[in-house]
Amino acid sequence: MTVASDRKAIVTGGASGFGLEISRRLRESGARVAIVDISQDHLAHATSALGPGVLPLQVDVRSTQSVRDAVRTATAKFGGLDTLVISAGVIHIKPLEDVTEADWDLTLDVNLKGAFLCSHRAGRSMAERGRGVILHMSSGGATRAHRGNVAYDASKGGIEAMTRAMALDLAPYGIRVNAIVPGLIRTYDISEEAAAERGKVVPMGRLGDAEDLAGPAAFLASEDARYITGACLVVDGGVLVQQRSPAVETFPLDRFPHIGPFRGPW
Ligand SMILES: NC(=O)c1ccc[n+]([C@@H]2O[C@H](COP(=O)([O-])OP(=O)(O)OC[C@H]3O[C@@H](n4cnc5c(N)ncnc54)[C@H](O)[C@@H]3O)[C@@H](O)[C@H]2O)c1
Repeated sequence: MTVASDRKAIVTGGASGFGLEISRRLRESGARVAIVDISQDHLAHATSALGPGVLPLQVDVRSTQSVRDAVRTATAKFGGLDTLVISAGVIHIKPLEDVTEADWDLTLDVNLKGAFLCSHRAGRSMAERGRGVILHMSSGGATRAHRGNVAYDASKGGIEAMTRAMALDLAPYGIRVNAIVPGLIRTYDISEEAAAERGKVVPMGRLGDAEDLAGPAAFLASEDARYITGACLVVDGGVLVQQRSPAVETFPLDRFPHIGPFRGPW
């Protein structure tokens, strides 16, 4: 795989989960990497985990000004920008009747508007040089519903639509735009027993981990993927192609005691 060693990258949500692992992979290939994250604690941990050569930037991706400053800082420091990976995201699982307008706004603002602001601004910087790669993070929820995830699933449906729309608009500038559709990936604390139980819904027999995402991300960012744009690459061990068995459903009704027979207007 041809991952150029002179890459200049920004990874949002780069201080945790997939973003951290993808940043590590890009660093190992010699890229300069700016990790953008809202959490100072995550940034401190990631900076010591990744070592020298990363540029930590505390940024709220919902803020136009902060995003603009971050792209300007990274571009100036690296002498350009050719790779943007968007992994900043939030999820709040709630039954529909408990979802507030604030929940909706937070989820859509971070997951969808934040992805738009970052790619809009970084795309402009890449277009000036006539090349670039943007990678969004979708979810199985974009095309199949997760119970209790109305705002999250809506945000990820938007990510897939936006990926295709941006791919068309940016192709004339030499910029490719793709998305990864991760499955059940273990980036959160969970016991071995619970992980094994949840892994039963996956045809490949286990939950994924962040490293399972890093290879496909590096491929899509590489020259080997030079003719791929507008694609949503599913990386889920086979989850989306199957019919689910209720006995091992990941979002079973008993996790949502409020959701049952219709109990009248809320
Ligand atoms: N883990 C999974 O199973 C899974 C599955 C499908 C899709 N995804 C998606 O992949 C992406 C990464 O997931 P993850 O599990 O690595 O998440 P994570 O929670 O480990 O990492 C997300 C990072 O985003 C940062 N962040 C949150 N709000 C921000 C903001 N306003 N500005 C800047 N940074 C912000 C957080 O501080 C955190 O470091 C998300 O978009 C998520 O929806 C995850």
